[in-house]
Amino acid sequence: MTSRPNGEPLVRLSGVNKWFGELHVLQDIDLSIDRGEVVVVIGPSGSGKSTLCRTINRLEGIEKGEITIDGQRLPEEGKELAKLRSDVGMVFQSFNLFAHKTILENVTLGPIKVRKLSKADAEKRARELLERVGVTAQADKYPAQLSGGQQQRVAIARALAMEPKVMLFDEPTSALDPEMINEVLDVMVGLAKDGMTMVVVTHEMGFARRAANRVVFMDGGRIVEEADPETFFTAPRSDRAKDFLSKILTH
Ligand SMILES: Nc1ncnc2c1ncn2[C@@H]1O[C@H](COP(=O)(O)OP(=O)(O)OP(=O)(O)O)[C@@H](O)[C@H]1O
Ligand SMILES: [Mg+2]
Repeated sequence: MTSRPNGEPLVRLSGVNKWFGELHVLQDIDLSIDRGEVVVVIGPSGSGKSTLCRTINRLEGIEKGEITIDGQRLPEEGKELAKLRSDVGMVFQSFNLFAHKTILENVTLGPIKVRKLSKADAEKRARELLERVGVTAQADKYPAQLSGGQQQRVAIARALAMEPKVMLFDEPTSALDPEMINEVLDVMVGLAKDGMTMVVVTHEMGFARRAANRVVFMDGGRIVEEADPETFFTAPRSDRAKDFLSKILTH
């Protein structure tokens, strides 16, 4: 179920434009995401998918337009930015765990430092999250002792520990060996079913079909097409989407 309790989408990008020097990397992006909605972003390499995610939590600034989270405009800097950023969880292709901290410490660090939880409360919550992603037995190990799939599930738990309003996933399974992809996707499907609002950059069409409310197709810095997954994968309208799908489907 997706909803707009106060008439506002949870995430709204309006007229967003971004340049890297001469490169117009995001062009007139309008995108609204409701609470509980799962949006899959798909498109060729260099089309701006990662940049789009990074602007949503202000890892990248924008030159034009506006981004709001829960009705609040993203501030440029300072305390407010830290607060808004912690409302947005992010999981990257590379797991980015702290190598010299245990799995449990990886998950408790943010809540203790930013959310000001006591160590005991943070650990209690971290253990619940590690159980949810299926890595409880690894709590006292270090990241290098875990498989890629396990590390990525810890990265998801770590992001969830901050109690974000929305989770961004940028190709979370593309660095994983094939046999580990499903264990990560299953966790993500579970999150979607529990009502988490999610933006997921992925070419995993099985995930899109199982969990997405909407597929957004980007090309050349623009949103070229949006549709529900079934419609998008079986009857894409634009030539660019048809061409892209024919390439990924034959591989
Ligand atoms: N920090 C940066 N400085 C300059 N150019 C950049 C920077 N980050 C990305 N770009 C360029 O912006 C464009 C969009 O990049 P982006 O990483 O958002 O694409 P993408 O759709 O995520 O691609 P991929 O599927 O390969 O991950 C590309 O042409 C890229 O080379
Ligand atoms: Mg990318």
